Amino acid sequence: MQKKPVLYRCADEFQALNVVALHPGSWHAWHYDTTECTVTLLLKAAESGGDFAFLPNSRTDEAEDRDAVDRLLAGDMSHAQKFDRGAGTFTLFRGGYSLHGVTEVFGTTPRITAIMTYDEQEGRVISDDINVRIYGKRVEKILSDRKAALVQGQKEYNNENCSSRY
Ligand SMILES: [Fe+2]
Repeated sequence: MQKKPVLYRCADEFQALNVVALHPGSWHAWHYDTTECTVTLLLKAAESGGDFAFLPNSRTDEAEDRDAVDRLLAGDMSHAQKFDRGAGTFTLFRGGYSLHGVTEVFGTTPRITAIMTYDEQEGRVISDDINVRIYGKRVEKILSDRKAALVQGQKEYNNENCSSRY
């Protein structure tokens, strides 16, 4: 991929693997991924709609192709690539550099995808702020419960050490 000698599985506990169910009437808004390379495996296609669409290499580390991005955001899909895919379709793309999303799902059943992320930097984890922004309250609670447990553990450790001195 872009002449990279190696890509590592993203080490982030939330981002490495996601299974996403898009229910009828929902879609995945245009976005860039936080890691460079994304692999998706479509587990269950939508009855109709639910197309994966992307604007190849719409940004670099230095700049974004604003004209192309603005056209897409205004609803002009003429420069986007779109795949009408069946279950089992395996896609590898530069999600961090290609604006992408999934069109509205129609029918009666959800479209289900496994999404795996990779990065050229080994051990890459994503900041708590970004993960909370992406995953919302569920991840916010996991992180705050974990911090509370750490603080509680520290208090218990301090109490034991203080009381043993007297
Ligand atoms: Fe994505």
